[in-house]
Amino acid sequence: MRKLIVANWKMYLTLSQSVALVKKISKLETLNPKIALVLCPSFVALEEVAKVVKKTKIKLGAQDVEPERRGAYTGEVGLDDLGEIGVQYVLVGHSERRRMGERDDLVNKKVKAVLKDGMRPILCVGEPLTVRRKGMEEVRGYVGMQVRRGLLGVLKKDLKRVVVAYEPIWAISGNGGHEDTPENATKIHGLIKRIVKSVPVLYGGSVNSNNAASFLSAKGIDGLLIGRASTAAKEFEKIVAGI
Ligand code: PGA
Repeated sequence: MRKLIVANWKMYLTLSQSVALVKKISKLETLNPKIALVLCPSFVALEEVAKVVKKTKIKLGAQDVEPERRGAYTGEVGLDDLGEIGVQYVLVGHSERRRMGERDDLVNKKVKAVLKDGMRPILCVGEPLTVRRKGMEEVRGYVGMQVRRGLLGVLKKDLKRVVVAYEPIWAISGNGGHEDTPENATKIHGLIKRIVKSVPVLYGGSVNSNNAASFLSAKGIDGLLIGRASTAAKEFEKIVAGI
């Protein structure tokens, strides 16, 4: 099965920088048939990035979404907007959104709204350092709960469009950036796969060209969610070349 590589550009790049980057990396997927590539630019950059990837196999993802339909939701971006641009994946419940107060019930609402519109949610889960310090049993409880609550009420037939991304918060660059090990990640991936069978589970958290291959070769890791290292063309090319 092809490895799913999702680039989360967060708020690292401006519109013009996003366009410059996508032009540099738009041939990457054809260079490596072992991967499927999804780019998640900022909302502002989505449309221009979409124009560049249109003739490639690269898919487009959004970093978040408003689950309500149209209406009085100042500052939000809805599924209709994403659909018109050709977005197929949506990151949901990223820890940098949860940090701003997004709770499991809203995450769950977003997951269901994304599925209803025929797109694929990438449900992000992961524990803070305070939980990891208590040991792996605590981590299992914490992450297991996030997965169950995030997917509450999702129909079995829709589950095959769900992707889960396990990202220990303390391992994300900018949030601590301590690297986790593939051995630890594998344990949590195993847990997630026991809760939701046959769902691809990605790993994220300071993935770079030095550690990407070892995470990807660990059992149960079906792909990567890459932030900072995906925003520099050369580093990202190195990651893809090493897969
Ligand atoms: P990072 O971010 O690769 O910069 O650690 C990953 C993520 O938060 O999705």
